[in-house]
Amino acid sequence: MCGIVGAVAKRNIVSILVNGLLRLEYRGYDSAGLVVVHDAKLERVRSAGRVAELGQKSANTYGELGIAHTRWATHGVPSERNAHPHMSRDLIAVVHNGIIENYEELRTELTAQGYEFTSDTDTEVIAHLIHSHYAQGSLLIATQMALSQLVGAYAIGVVAADNPHQLIAARKGSPLLLGVGVGEHFVASDMSALLQVTKNVVYLEEGDVVEVNLANYRIFDQLGNSVQRQVHVSELDNDSVELGEYQHYMQKEIHEQPQALANTLESVCNSQSLVPGIFGAEANTIFPQVENILILACGTSNHSGQVAKYWLEEIAGIPCNVEIASEYRYRTSVPNPKTLVVTISQSGETADTLAALIHAKSTGHAFTLAICNVPESAIIRQSKLRLLTRAGPEIGVASTKAFTTQLAALFLLTLVMAKLRGRLDAEREQQFLHELRHLPAAVQKVLALEPKIAEMAKHFANKHHALFLGRGMHFPIAAEGALKLKEISYIHAEAYPAGELKHGPLALVDADMPVVSVAPNDTLLEKLKSNLQEVKARGGELFVFADAETHIKESEGVHILQMPEHAGFLSPILHTIPLQLLAYYVALEKGTDVDKPRNLAKSVTVE
Ligand code: AGP
Repeated sequence: MCGIVGAVAKRNIVSILVNGLLRLEYRGYDSAGLVVVHDAKLERVRSAGRVAELGQKSANTYGELGIAHTRWATHGVPSERNAHPHMSRDLIAVVHNGIIENYEELRTELTAQGYEFTSDTDTEVIAHLIHSHYAQGSLLIATQMALSQLVGAYAIGVVAADNPHQLIAARKGSPLLLGVGVGEHFVASDMSALLQVTKNVVYLEEGDVVEVNLANYRIFDQLGNSVQRQVHVSELDNDSVELGEYQHYMQKEIHEQPQALANTLESVCNSQSLVPGIFGAEANTIFPQVENILILACGTSNHSGQVAKYWLEEIAGIPCNVEIASEYRYRTSVPNPKTLVVTISQSGETADTLAALIHAKSTGHAFTLAICNVPESAIIRQSKLRLLTRAGPEIGVASTKAFTTQLAALFLLTLVMAKLRGRLDAEREQQFLHELRHLPAAVQKVLALEPKIAEMAKHFANKHHALFLGRGMHFPIAAEGALKLKEISYIHAEAYPAGELKHGPLALVDADMPVVSVAPNDTLLEKLKSNLQEVKARGGELFVFADAETHIKESEGVHILQMPEHAGFLSPILHTIPLQLLAYYVALEKGTDVDKPRNLAKSVTVE
């Protein structure tokens, strides 16, 4: 979704703004813009294209105070006139992430006051509102007054033409960070934009407003009280967001999975036994009381939850439900205070998942656990317990290493729960720990299949549809494979539990419908083989991702990719890798924008 960068310094900050926006490109955007304050004037540059174009257009611009934005259209088409910053009477400029729900009403009121609107955005009302209060002289107070009139979600940056060393920023429902430098300060919607200038960061809290000056800053909470917030030193380094030897971030992130898994599992693999404390100190008292588990997440993160349901019920014997966060938040459910509510999110800022968590708490759920890749994110801060996946920054819109590390974290949850419920004896625990230690190496072996998968991908380049089949805990993996393919190659792909085939989707099967099947060597293999026969008999072309011992023969119309080993309960993690690679190479064949697929954003911070 949209990205924000702001800076106040004693040097030209235009390249900082542009480089920051380049770092935020991965979030997804359709236009970009910046404004600087120079000689008591606002100088605005906007582009309906890429940030690189904005960089060219602003090459001769100078300013020591400015704000910049990448826009992901919500209100109004992607165009230069709708690109941020939005201005009011050449005095106030605003960038905004989020959605203002009462903007129509405010627009009518402001129009009646004589304000002229030059865009179709909801954001422009913020600029005029601030302007309408600015007569009183303080940009901070004018912004606070304007914010009190807004309904919705926002992260904003504000500057005024007659205030050359001050930037106001605020957040509610959308992420925003303050970067602390020496005699200079910055704001951004995520850390990757700030690494070029500082590692010292303050995570602004819900409702915070910050007045940022050259030498200092002041933070006010949602009640307007002046507050202190801790300065953290980010563990991210610039290299972790560099592309390096890879062609795309998605390819890089697929290849980072062995390391990401090793990092996520590090504390556990170095110990001899599993303890609830890895989820936070309070887990020791909460976990023994838990009667069932409710998992809330969206997209890929929801798929990891669906795999975990199989693990939690079979290994730990604990009932588990998995819900789409955007559905759960609006339905009437029956809360059980002994339920552990688990939210799963790469970003920790997904609006639907965050809202579902807040909704669950409002209905009386006190046991909350976040499995998340971003420390200090909103979802982490809203949860009692947490397990951080240590995948490192994920830049590609298509989630890859975040997914497999989520699975690893959920497997740990399963084992801890199983142990507490007397379903994991010492021998089995050691066996599972051994398998977890081996996991990064096993994933590495699967990655070696990349050239074969690249060849296979050629069969998909001119197809318009694909079916993905799986059974049991591999059905969510098939669903994840279909999501990856549709997301980055724009081929329509659907996943079905293979047993459902003859209840409808078989009607679609013909030579133009490739059928991808996840076929590990498990108890459902024989049934899956029959399902595959049904496809073959209808002239369908099969692509089977089989284990070493699966024994399905290659023949005309049946392409087999043999996995190096079978990983038992951890097999869903291994079987994910070839499906990620398949989607990646099909997208390459089709020449789509792999890391920034059309219409999609990395962090979905609006509803
Ligand atoms: C995955 O490839 C998608 N980009 C998307 O489904 C994503 O997983 C979803 O939006 C949830 O995001 P989160 O994990 O950051 O909450």
